[in-house]
Amino acid sequence: MTPVIRVPGDKSISHRVLMLAGLARGDSRVENLLDAADVRSTAEVLRGLGADIPSAWSGRVRLPGDAAWRDAEEILDCGNSGTTARLVAGLAAGLGRSAVLDGDDSLRCRPMERVVYPLQAMGARIEYRGARGYLPIELRARASGALRTLRHRPRVASAQVKSCLLLAGLASGTLVEVVEPGRSRDHTERLLEAMGAPITFGPEDGGARVLLDPGGAPPALRPLDLRVPGDPSSAAFLVGAALLAGRGLRLEGVGINPTRTGYLEVLRRMGARITVTETGREGGEPVGDLSVEPAELRGVEIEPALVPRVLDELPLLAVLGAQAGGRFSVRGAGELRVKESDRLALLVSNLDQLGVQCCEWKDGLEVFGRAAPLSGSVYTDGDHRIAMAFGVLAVVPGSDVRIDDRACVTVSYPGFWEDLRLLSEEAV
Ligand code: S3P
Repeated sequence: MTPVIRVPGDKSISHRVLMLAGLARGDSRVENLLDAADVRSTAEVLRGLGADIPSAWSGRVRLPGDAAWRDAEEILDCGNSGTTARLVAGLAAGLGRSAVLDGDDSLRCRPMERVVYPLQAMGARIEYRGARGYLPIELRARASGALRTLRHRPRVASAQVKSCLLLAGLASGTLVEVVEPGRSRDHTERLLEAMGAPITFGPEDGGARVLLDPGGAPPALRPLDLRVPGDPSSAAFLVGAALLAGRGLRLEGVGINPTRTGYLEVLRRMGARITVTETGREGGEPVGDLSVEPAELRGVEIEPALVPRVLDELPLLAVLGAQAGGRFSVRGAGELRVKESDRLALLVSNLDQLGVQCCEWKDGLEVFGRAAPLSGSVYTDGDHRIAMAFGVLAVVPGSDVRIDDRACVTVSYPGFWEDLRLLSEEAV
């Protein structure tokens, strides 16, 4: 029997829903909000700034609007979550609230200059408390006066940078324009449009442009009413596992926003047969069911222009490349070095450890794959996506891959190992 699975709610959308609900006029009603460590970090940080967020949110939850924002008295711990740190920096700057943002050892190594610099250019008062460019950062309260208009062209496509600046513009009523070198995920834009914010977005000049023009005051935002789509990044691991297991799989209610579905295009180029059926829209996001049929995989070359649309799926795709016939490669993916770990280095060292021929470049990697079971140990450095990418190898009969930290998947997909088991040999 073909397994039918619903993956948990989208992590990126869940963070944004929690932040935007507090800015809305009235209560939002949300279903399927992701219950995982990163989103819990956002909830806790927002509570520290005055938002009234329930402590549990299984099923349908009410998120009060018109939050009574205040200065944060305690240090705001963003845990392992880059999205929390960067988006909340923009929100707190826009609200003019004082706050100190910090995170775990991994997050303290991730660059913050990319949000601090443009926020400072808007007139926000932010300082580094430790090493320049990194957490912890301190935002100082602004008694009065709007931030300055910002027209920004970030060097790399980053949804976190874009969303940080949009939140700063939104909460302060300031015009913000961001033109990216490639189109990053656009969940903030879609949710804001659904809430009635004065926002326009779409491709322009070969890049991607978004303009928020609130006209000098924070706009009145309609509350949200949605069921958060299943996370395509979580879905990708199960799709990959089904392909390795040579099994069919059906995934229901998955987000199919085109800024996130690059992995489906890559997998199809690798030989996969995947059908997508759109079933509806939620919060401006297209949602659908995926059907995967067994197929043999071959290596492909991922070009730099596609990278923003497959960013979080690259670890999985590289591991699938190791089990596919021929050469798999990606370039223009230097951003992977500043994720929850240096993902390029970890992918290559772990693949090498498993006996796979591969090579690391400054901005990418190359893997020579073959369809044979792998064995050995994997060092995750606590990175959830490294754990899940190598974790899918467990479905290959005869493989023996030991993951050093299986628990780190709680960051984004707490039920991952149970869902993966549905695709393993014994479950047939
Ligand atoms: C995210 C954006 C991406 C992605 C991350 C989540 C977001 O990072 O890697 O997992 O929710 O905005 P970038 O800021 O590099 O696009």
